[in-house]
Amino acid sequence: MLVSSPLLFAHKTVLAPMVRVGTLPMRLLALDYGADIVYCEELIDIKMAQCERVVNDVLGTVDFVAPDERVMFRTCSEEKGRVVFQMGTADPERALVVAKLVENDVAAVDVNMGCPKEYSTKGGMGSALLSDPEKIESILSTLVKGISKPVTCKIRILPTLEDTVNLVKRIERTGVAAIAVHGRMREERPRHPVHCDYIQAVAESVSIPVIANGGSSDMVKTFEDMEKFRAAAGASSVMLARAAMWNPSIFRQQGALSVEEVMEDYIRYAVRYDNNPFNTKYCLCQMLRDRVESPFGKRLHAAQTNEEICEVFGMTDFYNKTKAELEARKAALQTNGDQSEQPKLEDDVITMPVRFERRDYPPQITPKMYLLEWSRKEKLDQPVYETEQRTQDRAFQSTVIIDNKKYRSALWEKSKKFAEQAAAIVCLRTLGLPEGRIGEEHSGLVNKRKRDDRKCAALDDNDLCKIIIIIMVKVWAKTASNNNEKLILLNPCLKLDKLKMWCTLTK
Ligand SMILES: Cc1cc2nc3c(=O)[nH]c(=O)nc-3n(C[C@H](O)[C@H](O)[C@H](O)COP(=O)(O)O)c2cc1C
Repeated sequence: MLVSSPLLFAHKTVLAPMVRVGTLPMRLLALDYGADIVYCEELIDIKMAQCERVVNDVLGTVDFVAPDERVMFRTCSEEKGRVVFQMGTADPERALVVAKLVENDVAAVDVNMGCPKEYSTKGGMGSALLSDPEKIESILSTLVKGISKPVTCKIRILPTLEDTVNLVKRIERTGVAAIAVHGRMREERPRHPVHCDYIQAVAESVSIPVIANGGSSDMVKTFEDMEKFRAAAGASSVMLARAAMWNPSIFRQQGALSVEEVMEDYIRYAVRYDNNPFNTKYCLCQMLRDRVESPFGKRLHAAQTNEEICEVFGMTDFYNKTKAELEARKAALQTNGDQSEQPKLEDDVITMPVRFERRDYPPQITPKMYLLEWSRKEKLDQPVYETEQRTQDRAFQSTVIIDNKKYRSALWEKSKKFAEQAAAIVCLRTLGLPEGRIGEEHSGLVNKRKRDDRKCAALDDNDLCKIIIIIMVKVWAKTASNNNEKLILLNPCLKLDKLKMWCTLTK
């Protein structure tokens, strides 16, 4: 069976979750430079729950798209296994819906319990959760039980050491894989010094990895400083926000690159992954820092599209070349419509975007029947179907497990029955087997046996009675002279199968 190993949080350097900053280009850049794990920006559960998962074949990404077409979260295979999805939530059930929605596309799910900003705390989320340990327990244990990926949380410290240690011990008991601790209290601002002694006390009181956070600016300015901060906090791992936002190449062991070079690398990812231009501009402005008011900063500020941003940076050739490549890929996908139906391996599940269209199959024939037939022929265990229903639109998605492999349609269906048929189609198409569509009736053994079965299965009790009478009469007529009819009529061993077959022959 294809199983990916879970993400581990010990001895890691981590890009912190940052609203507007932690989008795909920044995460990929941080990974390129050497970060081990990257957190996405905090995404609010209510908004995420309305999103649809869409495979974007042109960009090679998986997008979570809001009803207004905005891409809320975009991820790709390059960060698979290393991206942590951070959510803002105050509701265990809603948190689970969102976690399940993204589960197969991320390495872990994190709950933000540290953000003191009003947009987060007003709904009881972020640092507001710190005063409600029951809610914390409920959210985290629901997630730990409900998803197959590791669950983590990010907290701020409480006003006393004792309260902080008690809280993390409660958090550890929920089964989370790690805790990130921002060593500042809720009311403290970034200018206040980070409390390494609190992080150290937390690290000593739990056995799961503790990720030290809050060291940017005063403690961490270089790659080497990360290790000093980790040691001072007695933690297992280090998480950087602002230092990485200003220059993500801080994760480079060989030393940081110039901001100019980093901005160009950032733009390459922004164009390649069609990043929202306002987000691109925001992140570049953070890197420019006090130069944002310079003539160059003002030109950047005036840019409205990724193309205009490229112009400011003298990267027009790169923009044109990348856009042409993406357009060519789009055109190729359009001409070869089947391309999007190529099977993809997502974790340990083979997926394809297919639907079960009833009208494509003869009556009484379904892909599930074909898959069952094939499993019997191959002497495999019968296919097992696992179906889930999502809350936001009550749609169904099934996974079929056969021969230790899992197959699922990437599309959600209106009914459980259709979802199972779609999963069977994915399996049959991946294995190159006929699935019983109209026109496929004559495609090989599986079909032949099915047709024969159908002939027999189509006979009801009335037919059977009529047949027996016909046989009796025929046999009686033929054998009346030697009185053999009694033998056949009364023979209790005469098999129903034989009768059915006889009937097919004599009809
Ligand atoms: C621009 C920005 C956005 C942030 N957004 C988030 C967020 O979405 N979720 C979160 O848990 N913390 C967020 N934070 C807090 C950081 O993750 C981190 O805890 C804090 O900046 C301290 O770390 P540092 O000293 O390395 O900057 C944000 C910080 C910044 C500067």
